[in-house]
Amino acid sequence: MEGECRRGKEKKRRRRCIIFCVVAVLLVFIILAVVLGLTLRGKTLHTSDTFQGTFIARCEKFSGYDCQKIWGVFQQAYVGRDPCNVPVEEYNPLIDAAPFKPACNRMMFWSKTKDVVHDFTEKRDCFGTLEETLLGSVLDGLTWCGKEGSSETFTTGCPRWTDCENNPVRSFWNRASAGFADAACGDVTAMLNGSIPTPFSPASIFGSIEVKRFNSTRVKSLNIVLVTQDNDVTNCTNPSLNDLQKELDTGIKYNCKEVAISQIQECSSHPEKPCGACW
Ligand SMILES: *[C@@H]1O[C@H](CO)[C@@H](O)[C@H](O)[C@H]1NC(C)=O
Ligand SMILES: *[C@@H]1O[C@H](CO)[C@@H](O)[C@H](O)[C@H]1NC(C)=O
Ligand SMILES: *[C@@H]1O[C@H](CO)[C@@H](O)[C@H](O)[C@H]1NC(C)=O
Repeated sequence: MEGECRRGKEKKRRRRCIIFCVVAVLLVFIILAVVLGLTLRGKTLHTSDTFQGTFIARCEKFSGYDCQKIWGVFQQAYVGRDPCNVPVEEYNPLIDAAPFKPACNRMMFWSKTKDVVHDFTEKRDCFGTLEETLLGSVLDGLTWCGKEGSSETFTTGCPRWTDCENNPVRSFWNRASAGFADAACGDVTAMLNGSIPTPFSPASIFGSIEVKRFNSTRVKSLNIVLVTQDNDVTNCTNPSLNDLQKELDTGIKYNCKEVAISQIQECSSHPEKPCGACW
């Protein structure tokens, strides 16, 4: 009798213990799920932190600048605004906060030759493009916009380049290109694409903004490097290049040279050769 009773109590205790264990394990699972869910949600909610992080990290590669301050000035241009109503002037304070330094005889412009130009300028310390300046390198390849009534930076759902004229990305590049061209001095170089029928397009940033800002009080000459490939039909006699000369401030000398892409690539892979020998 006594033994059976003890066994019954033991069974009850064991059952209670199992129930307790199951509840404890469930609780741990629920807590883990909640914590995990919150962290993941936090991550997707804060894509703008990633944008800001990229901005600051790229900026900090340049010494002597207050990157937090530049970030603040940058945001002022578009945050809280309709993303189709950010005119170029909104970036004036940003350009003032990180001005383009004139690098006489070393400034490189380009149109429709982005890859070959940057391959060249990155491997050789001869020329610098807008994309190698602080502002140009910080924002190269990025998309951003604000929204009315919000203090956040968005990286998705922003207008594309051609959706509206005054979008934050397009206005930035137009303003930065103007600032970069204003800083041009001495002998200026531009790489244009000899594989297309009109290497100089008046609608491009180079044609519509940069060429018009070259000032003969500072710029001595514009040297076009027309990048050619096998069987190209376009050469320096191309009519679009006459239009380019007409746009130039009188007093700026104009030169054009056809250079094979293979020669530029060859030059990129021999950084020991003097810059002047590339074409
Ligand atoms: C010139 O433009 C064509 C067509 O867009 C492109 O395929 C080619 O890579 C460009 N050439 C250079 C040197 O960038
Ligand atoms: C060049 O600079 C001078 C003096 O700063 C200015 O008067 C002139 O309008 C400028 N020209 C162009 C084409 O921007
Ligand atoms: C330049 O191109 C034009 C038009 O295709 C051609 O008639 C001319 O012979 C070319 N000139 C040279 C020097 O290759």
